[in-house]
Amino acid sequence: MRVARSYFCALITISTAAPVLFCISSETYLCGKPSVTRTATDSAVASIGWIWCKIYMTSLTINDTPYVVEIEPETPLLWVLRDTLQLTGTKYGCGAGLCGACTVHIDGMVERSCQVPIGDLDGTVVTTIEGIGSPEALTVLQQEWVAGQVAQCGYCQSGQIMQATALLRENAQPTDDDIDAAMSGNLCRCGTYPRLRAAIHAAAKRMGE
Ligand code: FES
Ligand code: FES
Repeated sequence: MRVARSYFCALITISTAAPVLFCISSETYLCGKPSVTRTATDSAVASIGWIWCKIYMTSLTINDTPYVVEIEPETPLLWVLRDTLQLTGTKYGCGAGLCGACTVHIDGMVERSCQVPIGDLDGTVVTTIEGIGSPEALTVLQQEWVAGQVAQCGYCQSGQIMQATALLRENAQPTDDDIDAAMSGNLCRCGTYPRLRAAIHAAAKRMGE
C-alpha cells in the first residue's frame, strides 16, 4: 500500500509539474498571450492544490469530533493522535504492532494505531480512550477497573481498556479462555493480567443484569 502510494505520488508530481513548467515558460518566452497562458497556469496550480489536498489531507471523525488533518499520508495514526491532536491517552509502546499500548477502535474494530497510516483513514470513525467514558461518567468496565485496582504503573492500561471494551461488545459473557485469547496481544509489564481478567468478568456480570 505504501509502495503503491509512493509510486502514485511520484506519478502525480511528474504529470503536474510538466504542464506547470510548460505554462510558465510559454508565458515568459513563447506564447505572447499572457492572459491565456496565465489562465492555464492558474488552472494547473489549482489542480496541484486539489491533488495536494487529496493526498495530504485526511478527513475523519475522532471521538465524535470531525477533524481535517494535513500531514504526510504515511504518518501512523498514533503520531497524529499524540503529536498533532494532543490526544495522549493512546500510548506508544513498541511502535511495531506487538504490544497493544496504542490500541484504538476504527469503525468499531480494534486496531493498533502505530500500524495504521493516516492516509488510509479518510471518512473513518476513530475512538480513543478519551472517547470511552469520562472521569465524571466512567463506563461499567472502567468502574470495575477502578474497583479492582487493576492498574499498576498504568502505561498499558488505555490499550487494555480499549481491547476489553471491544471484547465485551462482541462477547457479553466471555470465559477465562475468551478473555485470555482476546487480551493476549496487549502486554503488561506489571503483570496485571489476573486483575484485569477479574474486572472484565465483573463488568460482564453487571452489564448482563
Ligand atoms: S505501540 Fe502499537 S502495538 Fe505497540
Ligand atoms: S500496568 Fe504497568 S505495564 Fe501494565
